Amino acid sequence: MTVFDISQEPANLTPIEAADRLAQLAKLIAYHNDRYHGQDDPEISDGAFDALVRYNRALEEAFPELVRKDTPEAQVGAKPQSGFGKIVHEIGMLSLSNAFADEDVHEFIARIRRFLSLDDTAPVTLMAEPKIDGLSLALRYESGTLVQAATRGDGTTGEDVTANIMVTDAIPKSLKGTPPAILEVRGELYMDRDDFIALNKAQEEKGAKLFANPRNAAAGSLRQKDASITGERNLQFFAYSAGVIEGQNWETHSAFLSDLRGFGFQVNDLTKSCDTAEELIAHYQMIGEARAGLPYDIDGVVYKIDNHEYQRRLGQVARAPRWAIAHKFPAEKAVTTLEAIDIQVGRTGALTPVARLAPVNVGGVMVSNATLHNEDEIIRKDIRIGDTVILQRAGDVIPQIVEVLVDKRPSHSVAYEFPTTCPACGNPALRPEGEAVRRCSGTYTCPAQFNESLKHFVSRNAFDIEGLGAKQIEQFIAAGWLTEPADIFKLTTRFDEIAGLERMGKISAQNLISAINERRTIALERVIFGLGIRQIGQATAKLLALNYETLPKLAEAARLAHDKTHPAYEDLVRIDQIGDAMADDIIAFFSDEANQKAVENLLAEITPIAPEKPQDDSPVAGKIVVFTGTLTLQSRSEAKATAERLGAKVSGSVSGKTDYVIIGADAGSKAKKAAELGVAMLSEEEWQALISS
Ligand code: IVH
Repeated sequence: MTVFDISQEPANLTPIEAADRLAQLAKLIAYHNDRYHGQDDPEISDGAFDALVRYNRALEEAFPELVRKDTPEAQVGAKPQSGFGKIVHEIGMLSLSNAFADEDVHEFIARIRRFLSLDDTAPVTLMAEPKIDGLSLALRYESGTLVQAATRGDGTTGEDVTANIMVTDAIPKSLKGTPPAILEVRGELYMDRDDFIALNKAQEEKGAKLFANPRNAAAGSLRQKDASITGERNLQFFAYSAGVIEGQNWETHSAFLSDLRGFGFQVNDLTKSCDTAEELIAHYQMIGEARAGLPYDIDGVVYKIDNHEYQRRLGQVARAPRWAIAHKFPAEKAVTTLEAIDIQVGRTGALTPVARLAPVNVGGVMVSNATLHNEDEIIRKDIRIGDTVILQRAGDVIPQIVEVLVDKRPSHSVAYEFPTTCPACGNPALRPEGEAVRRCSGTYTCPAQFNESLKHFVSRNAFDIEGLGAKQIEQFIAAGWLTEPADIFKLTTRFDEIAGLERMGKISAQNLISAINERRTIALERVIFGLGIRQIGQATAKLLALNYETLPKLAEAARLAHDKTHPAYEDLVRIDQIGDAMADDIIAFFSDEANQKAVENLLAEITPIAPEKPQDDSPVAGKIVVFTGTLTLQSRSEAKATAERLGAKVSGSVSGKTDYVIIGADAGSKAKKAAELGVAMLSEEEWQALISS
């Protein structure tokens, strides 16, 4: 799956971009959710996953009107896998909301007080307990005897893992003392770090698949078709909450936990009763310091309201209880050595340095690469090959080097010299003044750039051709069949040659040819995006498609706009979100003869379809509007989204072509310019009246 860029502030996005990103995130989060919960084989770290979820949430907050039906917020875990029977949870197994900063903890408690109408002096007791990084189970006991064990699954339906649980020592099969008639105990199944390491060693010796971390090892060990394998693994269990209970009532969580101990369950010793946010945070810090020395992995501290009546009143939101929150730990760090710096050449020729590291475990994940961003980053941190470095895996997908341990630097060490020629084609790699990135000047002649741009052309958000991935592109380029994008569509005449390739065959070749033919008719914005024009992402591609409607019109406009005094230039930069720099890249792309030819040849193969126009019968359809000043009736994003939905074009600057300028409070130069040009100026109220007329 792709790496998702979370660096762009939701507030700076247009609704089209936001909707695009929400759609991508819905898919991406569902995918990673399944990798994690469904397949026990996560592709990204928990931190990276949380970052995606948080970004999605921030986007939804900024654009509430764009919240999707399939919002990731509505999902917990993954659907149960086949192979095990299904168990429907009588009481749903919830997830937890996250807190990252101390303020979030204060806000959590303030929210609870508000909800329960408690004043600031009324005592509220919470239990703070480590958040164990394992997988949750629901265990049903009838008259003190274990009768059923289920995984969380998607929160509603889990897998029946009774047979496997019966053979582990992790869980009591019959309870001590006098448990109620029916007792469903929930908690976390996990594996100690030492046991995980020993298991992986044994796996390696057997040539079997290695587990990424203790959590996956625990999940993988549980989900064995042959239960006797589960029995051989060292699994453990901490009990921490209740499901269905008949025959007894506990007034508090702490009383319940203490009875669970009596029944024979392991309850975490680091559980503490706290009365204030400060106490919670102090306990969190204490656990944070103890973390590295604990035998098992934890990823935060869970705070739960102790009083069960309060819990009942607080209830839950979509997927999580209001009465509990998980206070997560920050990024994990590790020390390793930098063995080499590789330079990757991207599709626009950008030279990106990548650190090759001695593999190291950072918070449960093996890391051997890190991004070095660019030339200046290496200079700024004086990163040298052979250095001992501190690595951090934070809320982003790619680990980073945060610091060089200069004391440990080898004596012969020399500063890293960034290459000034392209490692792929040998052409000069130039760095224009004021830019952070050095680029290969080889364009079409550089095999790396060509290779990358074709990969981009067939990628998911561009032509999305099934069966044509990075590997095939490389194979076909090597065979000499691809010298420009249009050649992809000429592959359909090479059935015999493709079928004759290694690991291909007639069926695959036929499927590939069908998949290519399916994309001959394709959305214009996908084509524009696929061209790989610098800075032109999906959202801008869509804007260009909406505004120009055909590729020849866009190309013609861009060629004319080469002369900045030509009206075509103004038309281009007038499109909201397209500034001078982007315009320059668009113009440069279409002014290049090789690109012109490539586009022409491509159009001989495909039929792009212009996007559907927004509403054209509204009072503002086709009008160019500018919002300026502070809006009070709607947020800026909402106002823009509404205008665009009604078919207006929202522009960032006032010109002679502007139809309306909507003036909010403290409007400045744009209002002045509108007055000078005699453009109609509307108050927010007048605008509202106009659009609802
Ligand atoms: S309470 C209704 N307590 O974290 C609240 N969960 O992110 C249910 N977890 O699904 C959960 N340690 O798998 C709770 N001490 C703890 C926990 C804990 C780990 C897991 C559990 C849950 C997930 C939510």
